[in-house]
Amino acid sequence: MTRLPSLAVALGLTLLAAAACSSSEDDPAGAGEDAPLPADAPTFKKDVEPLLQAKCQSCHREGGAAPFSLVTYEQAKQSGPSARVKVETRTMPPWGAFDSEACKMQHAFKDDLRLTDAQIAMFARWVDLGMPLGDASIQNPTPAFPSSSLETKTATLQMAAPFEVQGNAPDDIRCFPIDPGFTEDTWVSGVNVVPGNAKVVHHAIVFIDPKNESSAKVGADGSYECFGGVGLSETQLLMAWAPGARPIRYEDAAIKVKAGSKLVMQVHYHPGSESQKDQTGFELEVRKDKPANVAQLLLLGNAQSDTGLIKLLPGPNDRGAGPEFRIPANAKDHTETMELVLPQTLGGFPLPEMSIATVGAHMHWAGVDMKMEIERRAGMAPEKECLLGTPKYDFNWQRGYVIDAPLPSLPTFGPGDKLRITCTYDNTTGNPHVRRALAETRQSAPVDITLGESTLDEMCLGVLAVVRPATIQD
Ligand code: HEC
Repeated sequence: MTRLPSLAVALGLTLLAAAACSSSEDDPAGAGEDAPLPADAPTFKKDVEPLLQAKCQSCHREGGAAPFSLVTYEQAKQSGPSARVKVETRTMPPWGAFDSEACKMQHAFKDDLRLTDAQIAMFARWVDLGMPLGDASIQNPTPAFPSSSLETKTATLQMAAPFEVQGNAPDDIRCFPIDPGFTEDTWVSGVNVVPGNAKVVHHAIVFIDPKNESSAKVGADGSYECFGGVGLSETQLLMAWAPGARPIRYEDAAIKVKAGSKLVMQVHYHPGSESQKDQTGFELEVRKDKPANVAQLLLLGNAQSDTGLIKLLPGPNDRGAGPEFRIPANAKDHTETMELVLPQTLGGFPLPEMSIATVGAHMHWAGVDMKMEIERRAGMAPEKECLLGTPKYDFNWQRGYVIDAPLPSLPTFGPGDKLRITCTYDNTTGNPHVRRALAETRQSAPVDITLGESTLDEMCLGVLAVVRPATIQD
């Protein structure tokens, strides 16, 4: 009896669902007269609606980033059984950062979407019990969702023309150079990606192209293919966006963009069955005066050997004399580890103490977890800290995890501190992303993976948004 209503709903039958509208005392959920609900049964009104409001509706609502709403009781019931699976496997809400034995993060994150084990168990039980409505008189106030627009924007830019995304095609990752028209050095204190067509835009990253190298790469459609990177000799990141990401705004800090720079928007298209048009863009908040603090997005990792500033450490499956970045075919739980000791000076300039505002991970399809740890020099506390662990890493849901603390309390990173990045890969057909990448490249079995920019190459990049005091050099 308990399974029947959810099955009926899954099949789109409304017959039993209608019974759920009855709200008599002894049969509050229409679960059947012979099966009264346990007194502690979770109900939509008491337990599920508040959870959906807090953890799902920022995307699953009219006009939100998700393709369907989880707002009304009918909508929740319609999607209940499939939502249960997504919630239990922690594929929804989309969030990769979780504590593990190997990495306990000491900071809270803004807009944290993680569910507790108790919340997951409650949701599963609600589905099992036939998704009862509960006390219909309970009014959970509609939450106020923050605007998805950058309220302080001074400019809005977008692709020159709509881009045609073919239906039934493999994922496409394309770069669109855009001219912000900066005739003098400009400080960007806010940025927000505005996806054009939510049906196909999976994620977007905005890069700075200070030497205007991207213009030479574009084809007739105003874009170029750029799976692993934007292909620029010098670049900096401005923003990484995935559905649900909030506009970025730095309080009294900004990212410097040199005069004449292009901004390159890398868009990950995930086509559906029909062709679609997309015209993604972004909003900027710029200031002409120098802020008190400079913000910078650092991409650290991708070490090939143990000789550079960032050193690859020996690891499993190394074959020769030195460490090598190679993920053998069919290797599961394969790790690549790299270390960087922040030098006192870089390019002749002394490096300052930095505050870490946002952390993120970037790998490709075989990546399943990244850990970023810091070991600080003597006298700095805490001596050891795990900045980020992403045991639920998913290429499709890359995002920046914004640390929820005021500037003086942010984790620090300064000269003499050691940063260690450990990337874990699953290069087996048990990894659905690898299966799909193999199918797309018409290969029948996993292959050895090395560092690179193509679909079946890998990366291991830690993303750090840092803030430091501005100097005369800036
Ligand atoms: C950050 C935005 C966001 C949040 C928060 C979110 N979702 Fe989603 N969800 C999406 C998007 C976008 C999709 C579309 C599928 C895709 O692109 O992978 C989706 C798809 C789904 C699906 C369908 C998956 C399928 O089989 O195609 C279910 C079920 C779901 N979400 C349930 C939930 C539940 C339950 C919550 C809250 C506990 C939640 N989601 C929170 C963005 C979100």
